[in-house]
Amino acid sequence: MSATAIAHTNIALIKYWGKADPALRLPLMSSLSMTLDEFYTQTRLQVQADDQFILNHQLQTKTASRRVFAYLHLLENRLHLPAQHYLVESINHVPTSAGLASSSSAFAALAAAFAELHQLHLNRQDLSRLARLGSGSATRSIFGGFVEWKTGTDASSYAIPIDEHPHLAMRLLVVELDQNPKKISSTIGMQRAQTSPFYQTWLDRNPSEIRQMKAAIEQTDLNQIGQLAELNANEMHALNLTAQPPFTYFEPATLQIIKWVQAWRAAGLDCYYTIDAGPNVKIITSLKNCKVISDRLAQRLPSAKIVVTNFGPGVKSWSNSDME
Ligand code: PMV
Repeated sequence: MSATAIAHTNIALIKYWGKADPALRLPLMSSLSMTLDEFYTQTRLQVQADDQFILNHQLQTKTASRRVFAYLHLLENRLHLPAQHYLVESINHVPTSAGLASSSSAFAALAAAFAELHQLHLNRQDLSRLARLGSGSATRSIFGGFVEWKTGTDASSYAIPIDEHPHLAMRLLVVELDQNPKKISSTIGMQRAQTSPFYQTWLDRNPSEIRQMKAAIEQTDLNQIGQLAELNANEMHALNLTAQPPFTYFEPATLQIIKWVQAWRAAGLDCYYTIDAGPNVKIITSLKNCKVISDRLAQRLPSAKIVVTNFGPGVKSWSNSDME
């Protein structure tokens, strides 16, 4: 018997940037994301004699596999299942250097494949809690469309769908820059950000930012969604610049794209940016404007890869018989 799951990546519009409990991956604030159609992870799981992790058809070293098996053994422990060894085969349909949270789709797919293999029959809320133990952003990849992940306790911190099939002609342009600078992991970045003198303000503002974003989604107000997402991303990156020691994920090309987006907006195009724990920029735009924006970017950044994404679905899983 083996089980397979597919989970899509998500991009936070209101970001998770701080842990209340690192072991349980409980966030200090609620977050809200968009699940993407173009980027996903497919994972097949089966019990075997030793732990083996094959990613994109390549057998991974013990070091590279550690987080995956630590997670599977944590799930066994938590669910009082016998300790076993697994073959994990994953295909990541996420460009590795895109600065996208591939851990969101990776751990959501792994959680769903585990639940399927063990026939746990979990509801999506409980599946979201399990995904959270692998990676915070994975909590939200259980659902499609717009998703909120609530702050709370181990029992109450999970994602809920806000609108799985939004009637909104919104697109997210992912601009994959060609540099691949050394990355500060999100865990380290979050820890350091908490030393910023503005960190308390970041926490205080979260409930109203979530409220306003949900209202903008309800009103299908793309410009308001974009404005709120851009402000929230700027707030997150301002924490990093004012941390002790200060740091930034921005590279010169990041700032260049920010300036273009600002100029294009001033000239009447619907476009807003958001940036995560890496230099790449995601542009929130309308279906109407996405072609002109991606053409302009392709012309100015010939070596960058630009992918236009729409809303993607929630996680899916199925069991495979031995015959397959
Ligand atoms: O869950 P992690 O460790 O991949 O952290 C995600 C952090 C951000 O992508 C910057 C924000 C978010 O909410 O996804």
